[in-house]
Amino acid sequence: MTTMTARSKTDIRYKPVGQFEETRYEKIHNVIFDNSNDASIEVAEEIANLIKRKQLSDKMCVLGLATGSSPIRVYEELVRMHQEEGLSFKNVVTFNLDEYLPMDKENTQSYYFFMHEHLFNHVDILPENVHIPDGKVPSDKLVEYCLSYEKKIKDFGGLDFQLLGIGRTGHIGFNEPGSHYNSGTRVITLDHITRVDAAPAFLGIDNVPRRAITMGISTVRSAKRIILLGWGQNKADIIKKTIEGDISAHVPATYLQNHKNCTFVLDTGAGSELTRNRTPWLVRSCEWTEELTAKAMVWLCGKTKKTILSLTDKDYNDNGMADLLSLKDSYDLNIWMFNRLQHTITGWPGGKPNADDSNRPERAQPAKKRVIIFSPHPDDDVISMGGTFDRLIEQGHEVHVVYQTSGNIAVSDTDARKYAEIAKQITDSKEAQKIIDSIKEKTKSSFDSKEVRKLKGNIRRGESYVATRYLGLEDTNVHFLDLPFYETGTIKKNNLSEEDIEIMVDVIQEIKPHQIYAAGDLADPHGTHRVCLDAVFSAMERLKSEPFAKDCWLWLYRGAWHEWDINEIEMAVPMSPGQVLKKRNAIFAHQSQKDGVMFQGDDTREFWMRAEERNRDTAKRYNDLGLSDYSAMEAFVRHKFD
Ligand code: F6R
Repeated sequence: MTTMTARSKTDIRYKPVGQFEETRYEKIHNVIFDNSNDASIEVAEEIANLIKRKQLSDKMCVLGLATGSSPIRVYEELVRMHQEEGLSFKNVVTFNLDEYLPMDKENTQSYYFFMHEHLFNHVDILPENVHIPDGKVPSDKLVEYCLSYEKKIKDFGGLDFQLLGIGRTGHIGFNEPGSHYNSGTRVITLDHITRVDAAPAFLGIDNVPRRAITMGISTVRSAKRIILLGWGQNKADIIKKTIEGDISAHVPATYLQNHKNCTFVLDTGAGSELTRNRTPWLVRSCEWTEELTAKAMVWLCGKTKKTILSLTDKDYNDNGMADLLSLKDSYDLNIWMFNRLQHTITGWPGGKPNADDSNRPERAQPAKKRVIIFSPHPDDDVISMGGTFDRLIEQGHEVHVVYQTSGNIAVSDTDARKYAEIAKQITDSKEAQKIIDSIKEKTKSSFDSKEVRKLKGNIRRGESYVATRYLGLEDTNVHFLDLPFYETGTIKKNNLSEEDIEIMVDVIQEIKPHQIYAAGDLADPHGTHRVCLDAVFSAMERLKSEPFAKDCWLWLYRGAWHEWDINEIEMAVPMSPGQVLKKRNAIFAHQSQKDGVMFQGDDTREFWMRAEERNRDTAKRYNDLGLSDYSAMEAFVRHKFD
């Protein structure tokens, strides 16, 4: 199997999975790329080659196409090939997998709109060759319509190629769990998880349609070649189930195991749960780096339900780690790992003054540090590191909280109207009335006016001050950057611009921190955390020659969406039961994000519950490994700039 480092040609052609190779747990051929960009280019190239081959023999090329976030980059590349290399789509016929029901073509959420925006409007495909299920077919005509869609595919000689994404339910197209192996194009009721995943795009789950038209499993399987795209950690579990699990209607994508020319093209995140990546020692001999040893030992403790210090030779030998044992004695291994974990625990996140720091996560000097806590949204600081934040202040460091985005999109219209009405009662201002009117007039598909966005941002600012004051921080140490990339008024954000990076550089330059904390929590549903972290990296890259930057350590936190693996953690800050409550209260200050928050993600728990459970779980996992029994812990990984 291939993992790429730099972009060079990678063979994604189908190859049967080997019984004796490291892929022996796998039932579907897959290729893993370092990133989805390189992978998408390779897939686009395969499609382009197919189109050209068909052109040479004067044949039509019948493509089955998908929507969603996964294929966007593939379409971009096809458009580039058309514009710059003259790739023609005149001999291309397309059939899209699905469409919501009911759905107008003009609606920006429609798959019709999506396909035209990302592909059809930019290439020379003939409009009559484009087929997308029609979301406006009347109920009594739907069965007939679906049969005719199916027949049209057959009339064109069947699909030469099918592009797929995968939903977290394991759906392909909208074939949700329970779909039959032989199903054809039909109407389907969407799974709750699918609707939750679509909710942000529709500004709330209530606006997501309940039904859709989808090509069936049998329609998809009939394609001569299938490529399924999977990007990101969020897809890792379902990808593992699909590739390594048994064929089952509960995970419809597993039906692809029977296809003779199907390849999954993945990035490292999506492929991370496959046995050969998650537990490589079970499928091949490994190079035992310290990181891999730590990962394997934590896994071994989980598997044997033992603490580190009680692992025996037999435990190692029985679980694919005999070659590790040949390098080091189990006694030495156990002690090494125990100490490694022990040394990550500290109640002094800013360093313990006047103490030997050789085995501590942070430096003792300077005793009083300047600290920046970067928070992508106005609440990640307290959700993800409220306990550590509290300690840093208590221990006398100069703490600054820097909110990177305004977070305005996550405030509901109801909340905004409430505040505007209060303002109106107090001041009787025209501005307040304008905001009230604009919210009243807002339809499902319209965007917030500038004034409403400003008010929503101010609501989040106000909540942030409640939290930071509660933790004892001066208002002067609270900074709001309102980075421009976020201010689109829609879920879709812009790319980072020069302006964003300059704003970041300025604030870091002004504070000259010894420590930066930033969100390494990259599973947030809208990708804002990823962009905010890139902004930190870009700013630090520009500042690297500044004397202060050489002494500045960057700690990454998680918490709102997922947590670090125990073996990755480099600093674990325990919290007392009292601090857990204090953190909870600080999170409660963010009232607009409580009780039925607009962007919940797939986790139904409120943010304070997620944070508390994760922190409790981290502490329990340390304890299960044989370390002290704390009630909760926040976890950090240090990013080394080199
Ligand atoms: C889209 C489709 C769906 C998506 C799947 C993944 O036409 O049929 O099966 O491919 O829901 O969506 P993304 O790519 O947005 O994760």
